[in-house]
Amino acid sequence: MIEPKSLLKNIIRIEDVAARIGKGMRLDRNERTTPLDTGIVKAVLNSLSSEEMVAYPELEPLYEKIARSTGLTRENILIFSGSDTGVKSLFEVYVEPGDEVVMLKPSYGMYFVYSDMFGAKKIAIEYDCDFRLPVQRVIDRINPKTKLVLLANPNHTGTVLQEEDICRIIEAAARHDALVLLDEAYHQFYPGTMVPYVNQFDNLIVLRTFSKAQGIAGLRIGYAVSQPGNIQNLHKVKLTHEITSVSARFAEYLLDHPEVAQGYVRDVEEGKAYIKEEMTALGLEMIPSVTNFVFIRLPEKVNGTDVVVRLAKKGISIKGPFKGVPLEGLIRITVGPKEQMKELMDVFRDVYDDVHSSIIRD
Ligand SMILES: Cc1ncc(COP(=O)(O)O)c(C=O)c1O
Repeated sequence: MIEPKSLLKNIIRIEDVAARIGKGMRLDRNERTTPLDTGIVKAVLNSLSSEEMVAYPELEPLYEKIARSTGLTRENILIFSGSDTGVKSLFEVYVEPGDEVVMLKPSYGMYFVYSDMFGAKKIAIEYDCDFRLPVQRVIDRINPKTKLVLLANPNHTGTVLQEEDICRIIEAAARHDALVLLDEAYHQFYPGTMVPYVNQFDNLIVLRTFSKAQGIAGLRIGYAVSQPGNIQNLHKVKLTHEITSVSARFAEYLLDHPEVAQGYVRDVEEGKAYIKEEMTALGLEMIPSVTNFVFIRLPEKVNGTDVVVRLAKKGISIKGPFKGVPLEGLIRITVGPKEQMKELMDVFRDVYDDVHSSIIRD
């Protein structure tokens, strides 16, 4: 074996290769939990010519549609194969070994991995156990060594930073020539956005994805929105052909038919209200969330792993229990439409009763 470069030596990446598609309920990765209407899939596939399969993709129509949907221009947009590639591109363009990268903890796991990969010093700002994150805590850690401030909003806590607090962070970062990434992966489940601020702040990059509310995680599309100078810099490390023609066509369809994502967001809200009612009836706390995932607090004596493993055996994948403040011991469920959540709760109730009554017997 040939040794990789030194920065990669201590990086361990484990691929989860377990088959999930068609195997039950995927409530563990915050994707869309129900299939897209087959009519949509057929219509898009039928619209693709065989020439589009043999030629390299032409993405201008998608660029134009994304630009229009954000209210900005083509020069403000860069498409990536998933927003994950967008995050990595930011590191490629801006981060040198020894630079500091400020991030919230918990947050999107790849922020931590890319920091290690590019030799950055991770400055992780932790939440309080009640999910509060005083914004001054973030601002205090921004200094001349800071290159990037990574904010997922909504974050993996299911909570958000307020617009005025984000502006304060962007202004603090600007004083030290640092960039702020506003990762809006869960946009649409939460309507707030910093896209309208792109023209005001030249150190702001907003990242969006088609993997969550738009529902096409398998097609791998994300995009950055920023001032043209930043987009040109990100363009320097772009893949020659960033996404496939097939992916582009689906994304175009979804932008032409916003009712698809809007309907799904409404379904998720309904599903969330239902889970809250059912969990409350079981005496369990559901932590408020503005996203398509919720955290459930189990009683201290209930073994969360046992609950998660038993659900998996019945074909329902959820995530957790988590470690670290503020998620310690919580389990996470990706929310889908109410009908699906009814199926979930029918199984969850039985599993929870079993695990709960076994501790009462002990
Ligand atoms: C906050 C956040 N950012 C980025 C991503 C990456 O999404 P994708 O690469 O599918 O666009 C995720 C995925 O879960 C996420 O939660």
